[in-house]
Amino acid sequence: MPKRSTRKEPPARKRAEAMSGVLGDAPQGPKFVAACLADYEMLAKQSFSRPAWEYINSGSADENTMRWNIEALTRLRLRPNIMIDVSKIDTRVNLLGRELPHPILVAPTSSHLLAHPDAEIATVRGAGAAHAIMIASTLSNVSVEKILQAAIQPVWFQLYSDEDRGKTKVLIQRAEAAGCQALCITVDLPWIYARNREAHIAHEVPQLPFPNINFTGGPASTGLKTWGYRNLKWSDLDWVRGFCKLPIVLKGVLNPKDAELAVQNGAAGIVVSNHGGRGLDTVPATIDALPAIAEKIAGRIPILMDSGIRRGTDVLKALASGATAVLLGRSILYGLGVGGAEGVKHVIEILRAEFEAAMALTGRTSISAIDRSVLW
Ligand SMILES: Cc1cc2nc3c(=O)[nH]c(=O)nc-3n(C[C@H](O)[C@H](O)[C@H](O)COP(=O)(O)O)c2cc1C
Repeated sequence: MPKRSTRKEPPARKRAEAMSGVLGDAPQGPKFVAACLADYEMLAKQSFSRPAWEYINSGSADENTMRWNIEALTRLRLRPNIMIDVSKIDTRVNLLGRELPHPILVAPTSSHLLAHPDAEIATVRGAGAAHAIMIASTLSNVSVEKILQAAIQPVWFQLYSDEDRGKTKVLIQRAEAAGCQALCITVDLPWIYARNREAHIAHEVPQLPFPNINFTGGPASTGLKTWGYRNLKWSDLDWVRGFCKLPIVLKGVLNPKDAELAVQNGAAGIVVSNHGGRGLDTVPATIDALPAIAEKIAGRIPILMDSGIRRGTDVLKALASGATAVLLGRSILYGLGVGGAEGVKHVIEILRAEFEAAMALTGRTSISAIDRSVLW
């Protein structure tokens, strides 16, 4: 048998198979084995409380953008290549000066306690076991210090700033002191646009602790609305750099003009994101926005992409369109809710295994060999 991987770890497919016991007590009975991210979504829908499911699964308004994210990725066709030696597939990638074994990161998402009692502690353990960076949300239910104590792989901190500059500064300094390796500032929610499904269940969602901001309440409660919102401007990046040495990654870029401004204002990277369709509805799918942004950035800083990634082929299409890496949002929460840390690990392992196979079947043996010619 040819050796399938250049890494010392077992091949991703083997690892995914070895994980298949994770769903022993799944609602379908002990024989059901989750084989893809959609299986985890289905199991989450069956097992989550109604408010948890509605909060996590929903998008804004009519959910057009949320739907388009997946439709646009599915619509793109791949160009296979045959009779190439694909016995070794190397998924290593360099991001902000660090070599990662694969290009899949955990997106910042709030309120992991809705999905699992171990909340972000289980998420960071699962991400670490799958060799993935976790981006910990400002709106975590566990403090950034405790998340870092449980981390075995790098963690970035996602910032929602407060209207009070002093509070924002203290939070950034806490994240840096805790050991976070990058500051991911979310810039696409200065206002909240029509979260209709969230509004329907707001009164049913349990009160949760948000220790990073010393707040307790529902994840959709108005008490959180001062965080994140309204007050971030380009000039504020200089203010942050005045006291924080971490590289700054701006999350929520869709407009090529803003991508250029991000470079000019010293961002170390950007995340092309529409917040998984939870921000302004009817903005384009991220995979449709990505090529023009990649053209504008022209390799000056890394581009990450999220929103709608569900398959290894989606990861390949994102990288072919100019991304360096991708983030997973809801799928991580589904894995967390269904299987705790093991579920998070399994979700990442499944996607990684699919991505490796998609690379092989398009004749690409390394990340640097992935370019637009992968697309039909
Ligand atoms: C339940 C939920 C909570 C989220 N919370 C945050 C957050 O606190 N900060 C942030 O920057 N993005 C947040 N996001 C957006 C994600 O980081 C990411 O952009 C999005 O989920 C990616 O799309 P996907 O769910 O289709 O993978 C959240 C998304 C969901 C579904």
